[in-house]
Amino acid sequence: MNTLQTTQKTGTNLKINIKDVSFCYDDIGVGVIPIIFIHGFPFDRSCWEPQLELFAKTQRVITYDIRGFGKSGRGKEDMSIHLFADDLIQFMDALEIDKAIVCGLSMGGYILLDAVSRYHDRFDAIILSGTQCVSDTPDIKEKRIQAIDEINEHGLKRFAEDFLKKVFHSETYDTNKSLVEKIRTLIFSNSTNSITGTLKAIAERNETCSSLIKISIPTLIICGAGDNIIPPVQSEFLHRTITQSKLHMIDKAGHLCNLEQPDQFNRLVSDFISGLTK
Ligand code: MLT
Repeated sequence: MNTLQTTQKTGTNLKINIKDVSFCYDDIGVGVIPIIFIHGFPFDRSCWEPQLELFAKTQRVITYDIRGFGKSGRGKEDMSIHLFADDLIQFMDALEIDKAIVCGLSMGGYILLDAVSRYHDRFDAIILSGTQCVSDTPDIKEKRIQAIDEINEHGLKRFAEDFLKKVFHSETYDTNKSLVEKIRTLIFSNSTNSITGTLKAIAERNETCSSLIKISIPTLIICGAGDNIIPPVQSEFLHRTITQSKLHMIDKAGHLCNLEQPDQFNRLVSDFISGLTK
């Protein structure tokens, strides 16, 4: 195992160095199979607050900041989904985790699908939330390049406000002001350099659809029925193609269904995990 630095520490706000990057993470709870949560773009691990403590009552739960986000360093390498997936595997190595249940939301799902396509043996089961296996169409790529230009010229404001309107279900946006404000603050807490670097990484990502057929581990797919960023049809495609998969749509949820409807999301994950241990 490629153990770069070992740690058996548990707690929140922990740090571990992997190559030139210091990763910040939480590692709490005790259990045989750890569950690791990977956040989406442009957020950080605090997006898993409604999951962290709850699941830690029954098992080991790990959340970490992807390089460049939250309190993790950025490193010198150009950002790519492939690199983020390598980081995941090296992070597991460093924590001496052979196998885990891993849940990825949106970009976290891109990272997870890339890692599963190359390191299938490292996963006991996966949870894909609001994500997709396709790469960007030329149109979408062009929009991401325009967003990079906009951020470089005018800063994050317009990008963040447009994104906030799309990322939530309209009801969440109108009524859950504290959640919208939390996510707004979170977006602005990340550096523009990491945000533009990751927009480019997302635009350049490879498709992973062709490797879905090889996934032979239990897979839970969850998506917000009102997801305007990655339409539910993408989750339906994942479900049709991954043999051992289950699909659940959550009503009155947009792209961030784990935050918009945490009780439903947690129940689905909890039932899935209990089913694995039966
Ligand atoms: C995310 O939530 O991770 C991103 O919105 C994904 C994307 O833009 O493709």
